[in-house]
Amino acid sequence: MTNMRSLMCGQVDESHVGEELSLCGWVARRREHGEHLAFIDLRDHTGVVQCVVDGAADLRSEWVVRITGTVRNRPEGTVNDQLATGAVELGGCAIEVLSRAEPPPFPLDDRSGDVDEVVRLRHRYVDLRREEMQRNLRTRARIVGAIRRSMDEQGFVEVETPLLIASTPEGARDFVVPSRHRPGSFYALPQSPQLFKQLCMVGGLDRYYQIARCLRDEDLRADRQFEFTQLDAEMSFADQEDVLEVISAAVDAAAGTVTGEAIGEVERMRWVDAMNRFGSDKPDIRFGMELTELTDLFVGTGFNAFTASSIKGIRHPGASSATSRTRLDDLTDSAKRWGAKGLVWMRVETGDDGELILNSPVAKFMTDAELSGVAQRLGAEEGDLLFLVADDWATTTHVLGLLRLELGRPPTDDGVLRFLWVVEFPLFETIDPDTGRPVPAHHPFTMPHPDDIDLLDGSPEQLTSVRSQAYDLVLNGWELGSGSVRIHRSDLQQRILDLLGIAADEAAARFGFLLDAFRYGAPPHAGFAFGVDRLVALLLGVDNIREVIAFPKTQSGTDPLTGAPTEIDAAQLADLGLRPLPPQG
Ligand code: AMO
Ligand code: AMP
Repeated sequence: MTNMRSLMCGQVDESHVGEELSLCGWVARRREHGEHLAFIDLRDHTGVVQCVVDGAADLRSEWVVRITGTVRNRPEGTVNDQLATGAVELGGCAIEVLSRAEPPPFPLDDRSGDVDEVVRLRHRYVDLRREEMQRNLRTRARIVGAIRRSMDEQGFVEVETPLLIASTPEGARDFVVPSRHRPGSFYALPQSPQLFKQLCMVGGLDRYYQIARCLRDEDLRADRQFEFTQLDAEMSFADQEDVLEVISAAVDAAAGTVTGEAIGEVERMRWVDAMNRFGSDKPDIRFGMELTELTDLFVGTGFNAFTASSIKGIRHPGASSATSRTRLDDLTDSAKRWGAKGLVWMRVETGDDGELILNSPVAKFMTDAELSGVAQRLGAEEGDLLFLVADDWATTTHVLGLLRLELGRPPTDDGVLRFLWVVEFPLFETIDPDTGRPVPAHHPFTMPHPDDIDLLDGSPEQLTSVRSQAYDLVLNGWELGSGSVRIHRSDLQQRILDLLGIAADEAAARFGFLLDAFRYGAPPHAGFAFGVDRLVALLLGVDNIREVIAFPKTQSGTDPLTGAPTEIDAAQLADLGLRPLPPQG
């Protein structure tokens, strides 16, 4: 061990009986029995062990101590089966106080779910002592180690790319760093190593990877931080299949360190099927309740609200009796917030003659044929709830996709891991109504699907139907990662930039160095990046990536521990050639 300690607390067991040990750690708990006897639970990251002092022990919780004593079996009747060290204790202990401590700002032994986030983060060093945080960070380290080994074994070279760069377009805002040598000029912090990894391919590195820190100034959520970590990879003379294979192997290695099991062949789904069946490009396939197509049933309908281009429905099995009218009204409000014009709900009941009846305020506007068509398509059974939305395809799928999650999604920690590759993403998300230009779904370096290249010259509708060679990895409804085959020829790249309306001078200013590089011999290449924080969180069954990051930011983007972001003093600002504007609003 070390010169200070001979064993870790959690390792003491019956095999050590009779040995004199020195253990170090924090006082987890102490119980005094008058002047004569004191019990101290000593804790380090491996566990807790009971130490007995013959006499008084003037200790407080969280003091740091070194305890020397002899291991003995606990007296009969005092063995603690709940504790790994529960059969033994250290007797005749001598205690050396190494550090005194103020009372901890929150108790360390409960699950601390109730402790205010800001208080936890302000004293993160105390929070990290909790068993759960220890488990999270240590598991994270093992997962990262497994990913590294897998990438190394697959012939990838780890390359560090710079943090002070010109902007990388990933769709979020840049964090910027002012230059002292060039007042008025700024570096951007990388939203990802995207452009540099492509340069590595031109540079002949062939297979690159990096456990990369990325920075994006975006609104924080449970699965988003300003700073996060990607496994970032790129490979030359390779296509989509090659990338999927490499990344599946890395994820398999990562998951295996936690579950001890292989993830098996990862399922695949085309983007358009994911949208039609689950109303999401990151479907949570742990549960069913898929969207059902109903549009054709309502051709020529007399129900005005249903004269729409897309009508779909979902079935919530057996949910009718447990769902109140108030809840249905709330769900209708949610659907409207998500963009629907309304939400039709139907309770499935049986009439006197045993026939299914769809009980709904709007049933009277529908024909018997429409109603029975709905019941049949959705596979309605007595006691079910049905929900229908009519709108354009994008709205119908989006709203029902969210409703499906709201009604049926299992908790994060329910233990099942359902990985999914979503392939054939569209190249363009939509046409910007203001500019009339297509908006890229991924980044502008994504290769179109070879069968759809001709559509690039087509109408706006044709443009939005162009598929790309972009793919996402999804786990339990979280987007874990994205990648694509890249454009490696400057003529095609130029065509895409033209379509996006990125002018030559703007392209030159933003990523001209990449376009230049392509003129000097670019191999065909493809790559991927997945969020390590998200993967670790899901493997551990926690629903906020903050729990797997040692020093994260709060939801509002601050660090209560260091006080960041802070103002800087006038001299430092002057050095940088900066003068703050007065606060706005
Ligand atoms: P993308 O932008 O999809 O792709 O990012 C890849 C993955 O990184 C994770 N991620 C985040 N995790 C936590 N907090 C955030 N703010 C955050 N933003 C992204 C997600 C996401 O799926 N250069 C491309 C990849 C490529 O094409 O090779 C890229 O960065 O898990
Ligand atoms: P209205 O005719 O707007 O009063 O709506 C009658 C019922 O149909 C209400 O329950 C609405 O929520 C629902 N509804 C209206 N428009 C739509 C729509 N586009 N899709 C689904 N339900 C709708």
